[in-house]
Amino acid sequence: MPSAPRRIAITNALPYANGDIHLGHLLEVVQCDIWARFQRLRGHEVLYVCADDAHGSPVMLRAEREGISPEAFIDGMRTRHLSDFQAFGISYDNYHSTHSEENRELVERIYAAVGDHIRRREISQLYDTQRQAFLSDRYVKGACPRCGAAEQYGDHCEACGATYSAEELIDPVSILSDSRPEQRRSEHYFFDLPAFTEVLRQWVDERIVQEAVVHKLQEWFDAGLQQWDISRDAPYFGFTIPGETRKYFYVWLDAPIGYMASQLNHLKNRGREQEFEDIWKPDSDHEVYHFIGKDIANFHTLFWPALLHAADMRMPSGVFVHGFLTVNGEKMSKTKGTFILARTYAEHLDPEYLRYFFAARLGAGVEDIDLNLGDFAQLINSDLIGKLVNIASRCAGLLHRWGGGEISESLHDPELWARIQAEGAGIAECYEQRQYAAAVRRIMACTDATNEFIQRHAPWQLAREPGGGAEAASICSQGLNLYRLFILWLKPALPKLAERSERLLNIPPMQWCDGEAPLKSHRIRPFEPLLVRIAPEQIDTLLERSREDLLRTA
Ligand code: MSP
Ligand code: ZN
Repeated sequence: MPSAPRRIAITNALPYANGDIHLGHLLEVVQCDIWARFQRLRGHEVLYVCADDAHGSPVMLRAEREGISPEAFIDGMRTRHLSDFQAFGISYDNYHSTHSEENRELVERIYAAVGDHIRRREISQLYDTQRQAFLSDRYVKGACPRCGAAEQYGDHCEACGATYSAEELIDPVSILSDSRPEQRRSEHYFFDLPAFTEVLRQWVDERIVQEAVVHKLQEWFDAGLQQWDISRDAPYFGFTIPGETRKYFYVWLDAPIGYMASQLNHLKNRGREQEFEDIWKPDSDHEVYHFIGKDIANFHTLFWPALLHAADMRMPSGVFVHGFLTVNGEKMSKTKGTFILARTYAEHLDPEYLRYFFAARLGAGVEDIDLNLGDFAQLINSDLIGKLVNIASRCAGLLHRWGGGEISESLHDPELWARIQAEGAGIAECYEQRQYAAAVRRIMACTDATNEFIQRHAPWQLAREPGGGAEAASICSQGLNLYRLFILWLKPALPKLAERSERLLNIPPMQWCDGEAPLKSHRIRPFEPLLVRIAPEQIDTLLERSREDLLRTA
C-alpha cells in the first residue's frame, strides 16, 4: 500500500447510561470495532472513541429511585459499561461521558455558532402537578384516541399503530405519580432544521449513506422537515441553556456532540488539540464515520449533519446504519431469558465466539440479524474449531514431532499458496465495504481448501514411512503458513485468537501487508490449546442465568 495513510475518526452510538450493555448493543459495537481494527491493520490512522450518554429523564429518575445523585449513578454505570466493552475486546482509543467539561464546552461553542438558527416558541405539554414535571411521551399512559385500547403510551398505540400526541390520549395518567396530568404551556428552543433541507439533500448525494436510508430520507424530505426541539424544562439532568436557569438542552443535542467531546478529551490529554480542530474544520481531510442502529438514523442523518453545517463544521463522511438483533427469531425477551446482558454472556461463553458469529452474519445492510443459539453453537464448533483451529492443532503438533518445530525453507505447494494468498485483496475489499459475512465466507472456503490439502497428503501417515518425516514437516509448514493468513484476515473479528496464534507462530503482531510472504525457516512455539468447543449445556446455563439476572435487576 504505497498510498498515504487515511485519517479516520470512527464512533458507534453512545449507550444510554440508564442500563447495562446487552447483546443488541454488542452487535453494533462489534461491527464498529471490526472496522476500526481492520483500518488500523491496513496502516491507517484511526481515532475510535465512544462515551456514555449520561443525560436525560430516565437517568435522573433511576438515580432518584436508587437514592443517589445522578453524577454518582452515571459514574457507576460508566465503569460497568467499560468493563463490558473490555471483556469483548472493543478497542476504543477513548471512552468518555457526555456529562463532561469537554462536552459542556463544545455544546456551548456550537450553540453559540448556530445562534441565528435557533427559534423560540411556546408549546403545550402534559404536566404532572404532583411531581412538578413536564411529561415526555414515555411517562404518560391512557386510552388510544383512535381505537380506545387502554394503557397506551403518549406517542403511539401498540394495538392499532396510530401515532398521536400525548394530549390526545383519553384519560391520561402520569406514570411517575399515577395522577392525572394537566396541560401546560412552556417556551421551547428549536433548531431551524427546514432551513438545511437543500444542504442535507446534497450531503446525502455526496457521502456514504445506504440505499435504504436514502429512501427513508427521501420520505422525510418529501414530508417536509420540522423545527427540531432542543430544550427541556426542569427538572432534568443535563446542561442548562446559557442564559436560562430552568431550561436544559435536550439530551439529543449534547449526545452527538459527545462524540467530539470524547475525541477532544483524548487529544487534549496527548497535547494534540489542534488535531481536533483539523478533524472538524469545513475543509477537513479527515474522514468521520458513525455506526448506529436504524432507530436513531434521523438524529444522525438530519439533525446532526445540519447542526454541524450550521456551526460551520464539516459533516460526516458516512453514517452506517445496521438493523436490530433478535434472539431465537424474536425480539429479546426477559421472560424467555433471551434478553442477554453482555456480562452474563461473558461469564459463560468466550466473547470471541460472539464476535465471530456477528462477523459471519453482518453485511452492509439495515436488515435485522438473528442470533439463533443453536446455529451459534453449531457455527462456532464447525467453523472456528473444526475448520480453522483444527489446521493449527494438527500441523503444529506434527511439525514439532517431525520437523523440530521449524517451518521449512520452501513451500510444499507454491501454487496453492499463491491461489489462496490472492484472495486477500478481495477479502480486504469486503471488510472495507462492511461485508463481513462475505469476508468470512471467503476465508472459510480457503480453510476448506487447506484442510483438503492436508487430508489428501495425510502427513501423519507419510511421517511413518521411512524418510517421510521431512515431507510431512513441509506439508505441515504449508498448513501453518496458510493458517497464519487466515488468522491475519480474521484478526479484526478475532483479536484474542490472533494474539494466541501469533504467540504460537512466534511472530510479532501482524499487519495486513504481512500476508504477502510466507514464513520460511522459522521456529514456532510449543502448541497450546487455542479455543475450545461450545457444549450445549453452556447455552442452557446462559439462558437460565439471563432470566435470573434480569429478575434480580428488574
Ligand atoms: N444514547 C442513544 C445514542 C446516542 S448517539 C449520539 C441510544 N442509546 S441506546 O443505548 O439505546 O442504543 C445504543 C445503540 O445500540 C443504538 O445505535 C441502537 O440502535 C443500538 N441498539 C440497541 N438495541 C439494539 C438491538 N437489539 N440490536 C442492534 N442494535 C441495538 O440510542
Ligand atoms: Zn389504537
